[in-house]
Amino acid sequence: MSGPSGGRIPDSFIEALLAKTDIVSVIQESIKLKKNGANYSACCPFHHEKTPSFTVSQTKQFYHCFGCSAHGDAIRFLMDYQSLSFVDAVEQLAARLGMSVPKDPVLVAKAQVKQSTTSVLKRSADFYADLLKNHIDAKLAHDYLKKRGLTGQVAKAFQLGFAPKGWDNLLSHFSKEADALKVLEETGLIIRHKEGRLYDRFRERIMFPIRDRKGDVIGFGARVMDKSQPKYLNSPESPIFQKSHCLYGIYEALKTKQKWQTAIVVEGYMDVVALSQMGVHGAVATLGTAITSHHLTTLFHLVDEIVFCFDGDKAGMGAAWKALQLVLGLLQEGRKVSFVFLPQGEDPDSYVRQQGKEAFLGLVKNGTPLSEYFFATLSEKIKPNSVDSRAHLASIARPLIETIPPGIFKEMMYEQLANIVSSTPQVVRGEKAFRSYYSPKGQTKLKVAPPPQPMETAYIASALLLREPNLYTSANTQATFNQEIKAPGMELFYFLCTLLSSDPLLSSLQLRQKLLENNFDVNRLKECENKVAILPLDGLEAEFCGALKRLEVIGREQTMEKLILKAKISELSEEEKKALKEFLQFRESIG
Ligand code: UTP
Ligand code: MN
Repeated sequence: MSGPSGGRIPDSFIEALLAKTDIVSVIQESIKLKKNGANYSACCPFHHEKTPSFTVSQTKQFYHCFGCSAHGDAIRFLMDYQSLSFVDAVEQLAARLGMSVPKDPVLVAKAQVKQSTTSVLKRSADFYADLLKNHIDAKLAHDYLKKRGLTGQVAKAFQLGFAPKGWDNLLSHFSKEADALKVLEETGLIIRHKEGRLYDRFRERIMFPIRDRKGDVIGFGARVMDKSQPKYLNSPESPIFQKSHCLYGIYEALKTKQKWQTAIVVEGYMDVVALSQMGVHGAVATLGTAITSHHLTTLFHLVDEIVFCFDGDKAGMGAAWKALQLVLGLLQEGRKVSFVFLPQGEDPDSYVRQQGKEAFLGLVKNGTPLSEYFFATLSEKIKPNSVDSRAHLASIARPLIETIPPGIFKEMMYEQLANIVSSTPQVVRGEKAFRSYYSPKGQTKLKVAPPPQPMETAYIASALLLREPNLYTSANTQATFNQEIKAPGMELFYFLCTLLSSDPLLSSLQLRQKLLENNFDVNRLKECENKVAILPLDGLEAEFCGALKRLEVIGREQTMEKLILKAKISELSEEEKKALKEFLQFRESIG
C-alpha cells in the first residue's frame, strides 16, 4: 500500500514493514479476536453490530468487515482505529519492531516549522494564562468570568487567558527573540503598523487558545469583556491554522478519559466551555465560520455520532440545513446524525446553566434524527398535497439522497420519500426500467413498498464475476435465477451468467471480450469494478453470495407486486394465491 504520504516514505520501507508485521497481533492489541478456521473474527470496531462480521486473515495480512466493508492492512487499521495519520501509523508499526522510518527531508523541515511555530504559540498561551492569574488588572477578567459562571477549574482546562490593556504586552514579552517575533507576526498575534511599528492584536480580552488534536496551540479566539464590538477577534489564518479544518474543543474532547463517542457541534466558544464545565463532554465549535465537510470528515474519523445543536432561530435553521447537505455524503453505515434546536433566544451555554446537565443531555439524546429533519423540512417547505408539489418535492429530495453512500440508510431514505410522495422507491429515484414497469394506474396506491433495491447490485455481482469467474460455480449461482429480475445492469449480469453456465472455464479476459463484442455499455460496470478491486480475495465469495441474495429479494418482490396489481383487477388463481402467500411469508422472514 502506498499511502497518503504521497510516496514520501519509500514504498520499499512500507513493504518491508508490512512483511515483518503480523496484522493479527496488531489488531489483537486493540480488540479481542477469535480464531475461526484459517481466519480470525470479532465484532467490527468500525460499526455497531451484535454478531461478528469483522474478519482478519493472517495469510493475506488483511482485515475485512462484511457488514460495513471496512478493510485494509495493518497501517489502515491503526489509522482508522486510533485516528492516526498515515505517517503516524507507520511510525507506530516501525516502533513495535524497533525499525526506524527513513525521513523525507521535506517532511522533516515542515514538521520543524510547525514545531517552532506552535511552541511560540504555546508560550503565548502560557503568557496570557499567567496574566489571568497575576496581572494587576486581572480582577477585571475574573469578574467577567465569574459573571459568566465559569470556574477556575474549567478556565484551567481550556487554558483561558487574559490580554490586558496596552499595545505591547505580548510584544515586550518576546522583544529579545527575533525568531519568535517573526512567528507572532506570521500567525497574526502581533501586527505590523504601516510605519513598520509592531503592536499586539489582542487587547482587553479573554483569550481562548485553539488547540489541534494533539494539543498544540494553533490560534486564538478572544472575547471582549463588555459590550464593545467586535465581540470576538480570532487570529487570522496561517499555514498551521485553517479555519475550515479546525474545531474548537477537539483536544479537550479527546483528552477526557472515557472514549469520545458523540460530537456535539455548537456555535460558540463559550458553549463548548460551559458544557464542559457542566459535565457535558465532547462539544466542539467552528471558529466563527460555517461548518465544512473537512470539519465533518475530521469528526467522523473520531466518533460515530454527531449531534448538531443550533439556536431555534432562522439563522440556526439555515445552518442546520447546510450541515445536513454536507453530512449526507458521509453517512456510511454505523454513523448517526441528529439535530437539536434550542428554544428561541437560548444557546447551549445559557440552556445548560439554567436547566442543568441532565436536561441538556436529554435534548441531545432526543435530537431529531437526520431522516426526520430532512423530510419534515422538505414537506414543510413544499406541502405534498398535489401531484405537482409531490413531484417537486421528489425532485428536490432525489439529488440530495443520491449523495448518500450506497447502503441500507440510502434505500430507506428513498422508501420514505416514496411514502411521502405516494410513489415507489424506483420511481422517486428515477429508474427508467421501473417507470415503464408500473402502469400509471397502479402507481399511486401500491400498499407494499418494495425492499431496498441497490441500483448497483447487478453491476457489483458482474464485477465480482469478472474478477473471479469461478464464483459462478462455487456460489451455485444458477439456483437463484428462476425468475425475471428487473434491475439496472441485470441484462449484463444474465449475459455473463449464461456464458459461464455453458462454459464455466471462461477467463476474465474472455468474458470482457464477449461484453465488448455484444456492445454492452460498461461504464457503470467499471465504477463497480473499482470497488470490487480493493476487496480481499477471501471476501469475494461472501460478497457475491450477498449480491445474489439481494437480487433474489428484488426478483421476489417484483413478482409479488405483479400479483398484487393483478389481484386489484382480477381474481387470482389458487396457484397464484399460494405463491403470493409464500412471498409474503418470505418477506416476513427477511424482516
Ligand atoms: P456567539 O455570539 O453565539 O458566541 O457567536 P458565544 O460563544 O455564545 O458568545 P457569548 O456567549 O456572547 O460570549 C458564535 C461564535 O461566532 C464567532 C465566535 O467563534 C463565537 O464563538 N464570532 C462571534 C466571531 O468570530 N466574532 C464575533 O464578533 C462574534
Ligand atoms: Mn453565548
